[in-house]
Amino acid sequence: MFIYLNDKLVPSSEAKVSVFDHGFLYGDGIYETMRVYDGVVFMLDEHLRRLFRSALLIGLDIPKDVPGIKRALYETLKANGLADAYVRLTVSRGYGPIGLDPDLCKGATFVIIANEFKDYPHAYYAEGIRLMVASTRRNLREALNPQIKSLNFLNNILAKIEAKKADADEALMVNAGGYLTEGTISNIFFVRDHAVHTPSVECGILDGITRSLVIDLAARSGLAVREGEFVPDDLLQAEEAFITNTTMEVMPAGRIDGVHFKTGEVAKLLLKKYKEEVNGYVREKKGESPSLWE
Ligand code: PDD
Repeated sequence: MFIYLNDKLVPSSEAKVSVFDHGFLYGDGIYETMRVYDGVVFMLDEHLRRLFRSALLIGLDIPKDVPGIKRALYETLKANGLADAYVRLTVSRGYGPIGLDPDLCKGATFVIIANEFKDYPHAYYAEGIRLMVASTRRNLREALNPQIKSLNFLNNILAKIEAKKADADEALMVNAGGYLTEGTISNIFFVRDHAVHTPSVECGILDGITRSLVIDLAARSGLAVREGEFVPDDLLQAEEAFITNTTMEVMPAGRIDGVHFKTGEVAKLLLKKYKEEVNGYVREKKGESPSLWE
């Protein structure tokens, strides 16, 4: 396995980062997770736009421009012979003496890890996954904006630990006002009165790229979509619920806390539409240019 580290591919055994890296010491850095279908990185421009937004929000200089990152991504996929994969792109503040000052670091550390994508168990889609509402609240927007896709994941890890204790697969968090936000690695949707509902960005969430596409697909399918403030009870009384992210796509909920849900028709429809969108995107990108990174 080859890892892209700073400016070159190295075998994974040689892919090492300093113990003085501020990503390690302070969680000072950002990342993106992307999905590769048939050799094409899905929604690459959207992921890179969000990466640069995260960088801007923490004042981090990414040591490559967009074409350079695209080339590095596709070189990593090629070196590993990957066509159906997930990719994790991490940019940390880099290494420097101990201390919070970002200027202690000479330059960012840039890492791409790509690996074969292993499908989630079929039952996760057929029967739905187990969700729970955690007591850990989502970070305040005014303290650590969830729109920054940062390496600092302790908020989400604390909620994940609660999920594991409750025998659930994913934890949902509410904000300081008690309104639903998102899962530890996913966005939440529910269906009520034939309308698709999801917490608005103002609730304090990462505006997922899958979430945006699913909102668009729902609207294009003639479904009403409501983004707003919702409480856990709204979710528990829903007809169906599902979560979204880059690797899960659209995954239905089978249980939330003690309440059981059937895999609903809306989740099934949106997953089907999502897959159609992926196929169309891959076809278009392959036909568009001789090299996928230009
Ligand atoms: N997680 N909310 C949080 C907190 C997330 O970490 C993620 C993604 C999402 C969904 O975003 P998207 O649809 O752009 O994947 C929402 C990725 C998959 C991860 O942590 O690897």
